[in-house]
Amino acid sequence: MTSPSPAALPDTLISALEKILGPGGLLTQASDMAGFLTDWRGMFHGRACAVARPASTEACAETVRLCAAHGIPVVPQGGNTSMVGGATPDASGRELVILTSRMNRVREIDRIDNTMSIDAGVTLKAAQDAAFDAGLMLPLSISSEGSAEIGGVLATNAGGNNTVRYGNARELVLGLEAVLPDGRVLNLMRRLRKDNTGYALRQLFIGSEGTLAIITGAILQLQPKPKSIETALCAVADPKAALALFAAFRNAEPSAIQAFEFMSGPSMKLVNTLIPDAPLPLAEPSPAYVLVELASPRGGDTLRGLMEEVLGKALEDGLVSDAVLAESEAQRLAFWKLREEHSEAQKRAGTSVKNDVSVPLSAIPEFIDRATAACEKLVPGIRVAPFGHIGDGNIHFNLVQPEGADGAAFLARDHEIMDAVTAIVRDLGGSFSAEHGVGQLKAYMMPEWRGGAELDVMRRIKAAIDPQGIMNPGKMLPDAG
Ligand code: MLT
Ligand code: ZN
Repeated sequence: MTSPSPAALPDTLISALEKILGPGGLLTQASDMAGFLTDWRGMFHGRACAVARPASTEACAETVRLCAAHGIPVVPQGGNTSMVGGATPDASGRELVILTSRMNRVREIDRIDNTMSIDAGVTLKAAQDAAFDAGLMLPLSISSEGSAEIGGVLATNAGGNNTVRYGNARELVLGLEAVLPDGRVLNLMRRLRKDNTGYALRQLFIGSEGTLAIITGAILQLQPKPKSIETALCAVADPKAALALFAAFRNAEPSAIQAFEFMSGPSMKLVNTLIPDAPLPLAEPSPAYVLVELASPRGGDTLRGLMEEVLGKALEDGLVSDAVLAESEAQRLAFWKLREEHSEAQKRAGTSVKNDVSVPLSAIPEFIDRATAACEKLVPGIRVAPFGHIGDGNIHFNLVQPEGADGAAFLARDHEIMDAVTAIVRDLGGSFSAEHGVGQLKAYMMPEWRGGAELDVMRRIKAAIDPQGIMNPGKMLPDAG
C-alpha cells in the first residue's frame, strides 16, 4: 500500500513556526526528516508535514498552540528508542513531529533536597553523569540510556536495571512540567515529598506515552552515590535457579540488591558472537546467567563479604555452577555490556518479536517453559532468547527469526506469536507490557486486556485533556483520536 504524500504546510504556517523555533528549528525536507520517521526497530515507517525542534518550553508551547489552532496532530519524540512505535508518526503525512532534544539543560542540582531539575531533552546518560559529577546518583538505568531522553523515559514510565531497588521512573519524579494539547504549560515543578492537594496530575502524565501532553521538564529525586559496588556474573541452570539465587540475596540483605538480571544462554550467545569485544568471562557456556549487583553508600568491604557468602553457599548448594566477581570498574562495565547488548545483538541476528511481559516471580519458570513450547510449535526453528529484569518479574521474552528464514515473513506473524505468548501471561496473572509501554504495536491489545471500566476511564481522561485528539494519535488507545 502506498502512503499518501505528506500534506504541505501553508507558507504562512511555515513562517510562523520558523519564527517560534528559530534557525534550524523546523525541518521540512524529506532527507532532514527521515531519521525521525522510522522507529529504532525499523517496524514503523511514518510521514510528517514537518519536524519541529523547540529549544525551550515556551517555544514548544507556542508550537503546540499553533498546531491546536490549525488542527494539526503532534507526535512528541525524544531519543526515538521506543520498542513499540510510540514516537513514530502515522502514514498520513498530516502530523508534526516535535523533538525534545534541543531542550537539553540540567537546570539545577540541589544537594540538600537531593534533587535534579532537568529539561526533557537531556539524555538519561547525561543526566546520570551530571548527578554523578555532583556526588549523587540518578538510579535509573536502561539499555538505551545513551540516546533515550528524560521526557520519553518519563512518558513511558521506563523501568530498567535498578527498578528492583528504586522503583520505576514514576517513583523518582517529584515535579513535572508539560505542555498541554491546547498549548498551555502545566507547571507542577514542586520538589515536595509531601503534597496532598488534589489529583496527582504528574503521575497521570508519567506513562501516558505522549497522548495527554508533551513533558518538557522534571524534578527527579536523586540518591547518594554508592561508595561500594560488587558485581558478579553467575552461571545458573535455569530460571528456577536464578529465582532461588535472588531469594538467597534477598534473605541475606534485601536493601543491598541494586540489580538482578537474567540472561538465557541463547541470548547471551548472540551477544558473544555478534557484538565486538563481548566474550563470556566464564570457562563454559551455561543454559542461563544472572548478573547481580550489590551497592551501598557506605565504604568498606562488607559487600564483598556478603557477595562471597551468598555465592559460596549457592555454589555449594548447586544453585550456581560458576561465578566471576568484577575486580575493577572496567570489568564491571564489561559485565554490564554483556547484559545491555542483548537487544542490539538480537537486531543483528535478524528480525525479532518482542514480548516485554511481567508475571509474578513465582510464575516465571512456568511462563518460560510454556511460552517456549508454544513458540517452537508455532514457528519451527524460532530462536527463543529471553532475558530481562527477573528481580521485577519482567522478562523480555524475545524471539529471533529462524536462521536463514525470511525476516519480513517472520515479522508478519508478530500478532499471532505475541498473542500465543500473552495468552500464557494472562493465564499466569501477568501484564502484556511491563516497561516498554503500548505505543502503536500493542494498542490492539488494550480492549481485551484493559477493557470495560478501565479503558472507559482512560478514554474519558483523554477526551477531557485532549478534546481535539491531536496529541500522539493512535498510540496506546486504539481508536481514540
Ligand atoms: C532491555 O532491558 O535491554 C530492553 O528493555 C529490552 C528489549 O530489547 O526487549
Ligand atoms: Zn528492559
